[in-house]
Amino acid sequence: LARPTQLVCVIRHQFSTSSKSRSQKDAKVAVLGAAGGIGQPLSLLLKCQPLISHLNLYDIAHTPGVAADLSHIETRAKVKGFLGEEQLRQCLEGAQVVVIPAGVPRKPGMTRDDLFNTNAGIVRDLTDAIADVCPKAMVCIITNPVNSTVPIASEVLKRRGVYDPKRVFGVTTLDVVRSNTFISQIKEIESGQGLDLTKTNCPVIGGHSGITIIPLISQCTPPVSFPTEERAKLTERIQNAGTEVVEAKAGAGSATLSMAFAAAEFTKTLIEALNGMEGKVQCAYVRSDETEAKYFATPVLLGKEGIEKNLGMGKLLDFEVSLLKAAMPELIKNIEKGEEFVAKTY
Ligand code: NAD
Ligand code: LMR
Repeated sequence: LARPTQLVCVIRHQFSTSSKSRSQKDAKVAVLGAAGGIGQPLSLLLKCQPLISHLNLYDIAHTPGVAADLSHIETRAKVKGFLGEEQLRQCLEGAQVVVIPAGVPRKPGMTRDDLFNTNAGIVRDLTDAIADVCPKAMVCIITNPVNSTVPIASEVLKRRGVYDPKRVFGVTTLDVVRSNTFISQIKEIESGQGLDLTKTNCPVIGGHSGITIIPLISQCTPPVSFPTEERAKLTERIQNAGTEVVEAKAGAGSATLSMAFAAAEFTKTLIEALNGMEGKVQCAYVRSDETEAKYFATPVLLGKEGIEKNLGMGKLLDFEVSLLKAAMPELIKNIEKGEEFVAKTY
């Protein structure tokens, strides 16, 4: 295993390229909600990301401390903290990518939709500031309920005349991360050998709550097969994995560390694509014509302008078609709720 100092050397080595390629790697990223359970480890991972030159951290509390702490790490990104609403717009200046984990998490017994009343207004107001200051930024929304907060952000950007569906993402990477992990674990139990997780990829489509989370196990790479009952059990575990963490944390919040990992992976892939690297694909909850739901997660090909191509859901098994049918009413309801909120309050 590489020691931390060796890792830093590797990171430094990646910078010692020509000035042209270095300037292409100057990504400026803002994290909104940066002092929270997700925000802090996410900011740490982004601080270690060589593609990022500037990391602006915004929250309504504690950002000076978080920023001071991270700024001592000997990696490239220049970290600045911004505190309170009066500093929000300053934080967003020049941001190419804005990642939003601001908002309250679930406690046991709650659904993600139960967070709507608090988090809808937070996402609306943060997006309004994005429309003012960095309307061309990529907007990556973590805040739940994602099924509704992405429509909320999109409606705000539309009303401000700066909406580009290629640039607004609901971050659903954690569903893929979990699917990959759980599938590999089962294979390890079955055969004594797990899958190579660096090469395992199970697309997850739909939305990000309960039955709207639809893992496409039939499209996993490398291919895996499960008896019907086991596949149903695995699907249910993936759909309820957020609740599994909420219950284990017993009132102290929801997934933070795995979410930070997932969001950092998503952000890194997005920046690589913005820098012109080809073939960068992630699942994300985006504006979509794939189904009757206006927003729907599928694998998307990322490029210099955001979404280059929606890769769609591919061919589904009958079992997956039944999951899709079951998901649709809830997903559509969640989307309409977000849109109505903006229509009424913005
Ligand atoms: P947390 O309470 O630990 O942190 C939230 C942070 O947001 C806090 O620091 C708080 O001060 C800040 N905040 C509140 N209002 C704000 C505002 N108006 N502007 C800026 N910052 C504000 O919560 P957490 O565990 O980090 O979770 C954050 C959100 O992410 C929750 O809504 C949670 O449900 C969601 N989440 C989503 C996924 C996903 O897969 N998309 C996974 C895990 C959690
Ligand atoms: C998750 O999937 O872990 C998040 O959406 C948080 C939650 O409330 O479950």
